[in-house]
Amino acid sequence: MGRGSLKKRHNKPQNFKSQPSMASSRRKAKSYLTIPVLLSAFLAIGVIGLLVISSNKWRNIGYMTSYEMVSVVNEFPHDPEAFTQGLLYAENDTLLESTGLYGNSSVRKVALQTGKVKLLHKMADSSFGEGLTLLGDRLFQVTWLQNIGFIYDRNNLSQVGKFTHRMEDGWGLANDGKDLFGSDGSSTLYQIDPQTFEVISKQVVKYNGHEVHNLNELEFINGEVWANVYGVDCIARISPRDGKVVGWILLQNLRAGLEAAGTTGIDVLNGIAWDGKQNRIFVTGKLWPKLYEIKLHPIKKTLEKGVIEKLCMRERLHFGRS
Ligand SMILES: *[C@@H]1O[C@H](CO)[C@@H](O)[C@H](O)[C@H]1NC(C)=O
Ligand SMILES: *[C@@H]1O[C@H](CO)[C@@H](O)[C@H](O)[C@H]1NC(C)=O
Ligand SMILES: *[C@@H]1O[C@H](CO)[C@@H](O)[C@H](O)[C@H]1NC(C)=O
Repeated sequence: MGRGSLKKRHNKPQNFKSQPSMASSRRKAKSYLTIPVLLSAFLAIGVIGLLVISSNKWRNIGYMTSYEMVSVVNEFPHDPEAFTQGLLYAENDTLLESTGLYGNSSVRKVALQTGKVKLLHKMADSSFGEGLTLLGDRLFQVTWLQNIGFIYDRNNLSQVGKFTHRMEDGWGLANDGKDLFGSDGSSTLYQIDPQTFEVISKQVVKYNGHEVHNLNELEFINGEVWANVYGVDCIARISPRDGKVVGWILLQNLRAGLEAAGTTGIDVLNGIAWDGKQNRIFVTGKLWPKLYEIKLHPIKKTLEKGVIEKLCMRERLHFGRS
């Protein structure tokens, strides 16, 4: 989505787990003392002790978290003037990309290896390009602060249609080969009929019971919807069935690398593309001079509570319309 300040920070994390009740572990002792009663007493004390220890553990230490760190397999040039809003891989080392900003919005065919723009459709100055997805031989694109989307021929990028959708706004698009998935900057993931543009279903995306707002560029990968979250260097892996975040991909090292190399003026991480045949994952950002092929390294460990929330979740940002 569009430009905006990122001043807002996520709320202080609250208690994520409720305390188990201890009432049920109490036992009434009869008037005589026997070995079983003593044993029960010891057991009861043990259970209470464990409950106290584990509730403190939840409060102070954290919980098991699955997340993924990434390493860079390849880096490619990326147009540093492309305000990337939609990205996908389309055979033969070719990317299709949608860019934003009024007066500079476009749909382009880009050579992966060189970053060179091979074909460009310039959008009207009044349109702000957003998410893009390829379904069959048609490219679907949404626009910012409008309910209007465009359909293009995948080969020559000429506009062949227009549609109106029922999301609050147009941010991200993906598809599973049949239906569209859309995001509008809220925590809702929409499943949309590509013929009627009616909403088939909606899921509120949640991590540990908390809504994940600002869902942005989307990609459908192996049954999951991967989403850039606006303003953070994290990708949420979402189960489209129930909206649960099943994992996080942490990409803070990419920005750090660009900054260490002296790059300035880059905007947010945005853009996920997947080459299903060769199982390659590509990511970039708005005005980033590089596009990265990344490899995931799954990690499962106990993190201090709130770490992922602080890194990857923000309050909902409101732009333009409210
Ligand atoms: C990919 O390259 C092959 C061989 O050059 C060509 O036949 C095919 O049409 C290309 N596909 C696309 C989508 O450009
Ligand atoms: C559009 O991009 C060009 C560079 O390609 C840049 O010079 C210009 O300032 C941009 N315009 C807007 C409205 O962002
Ligand atoms: C682009 O391709 C479509 C077919 O999807 C065709 O109808 C149209 O004439 C082509 N446009 C140009 C400019 O070649």
